[in-house]
Amino acid sequence: MSLPKKLLSDFDEVLKERGYQSRSKGIRDALQDYIVRYQWMNSMEGERIGIVTIIYDHHYTGVMENLAEIQHSFRNEINTSMHIHMTDKYCMEIVVVNGDIAQIRELTEKIMRLKGVEHVKLTSTANGEDFKEPGHSHDHGHIH
Ligand code: NI
Repeated sequence: MSLPKKLLSDFDEVLKERGYQSRSKGIRDALQDYIVRYQWMNSMEGERIGIVTIIYDHHYTGVMENLAEIQHSFRNEINTSMHIHMTDKYCMEIVVVNGDIAQIRELTEKIMRLKGVEHVKLTSTANGEDFKEPGHSHDHGHIH
């Protein structure tokens, strides 16, 4: 397993701030958290409305074309999107999604797997009359 230096030093910084004594305990907890988030995301069903937030390095070869390609193939689930030039290096894209969660999940996971994409977050709520039902009112997911 090899990790980028920056990612590892950021991780160690977080562990230090949280008072962790060992990195391996931190890694176990992080993996557990990743699995729980994945399972949470997989447990949703039905029609959802939400937002996918993406942060990517626009210098990374092909990432913009790949993002556009993916979004075009999910145009039925995408209502609108916004592009923010965050820094010299990073762009943020906010995509408003609306439709079957299975499709939204597939879209989110395809984007997540792209090289050059550094952060993806899906926030969603039930779409319809039951959006205020307990447990459905404010779910939020977070991936890597
Ligand atoms: Ni930009």
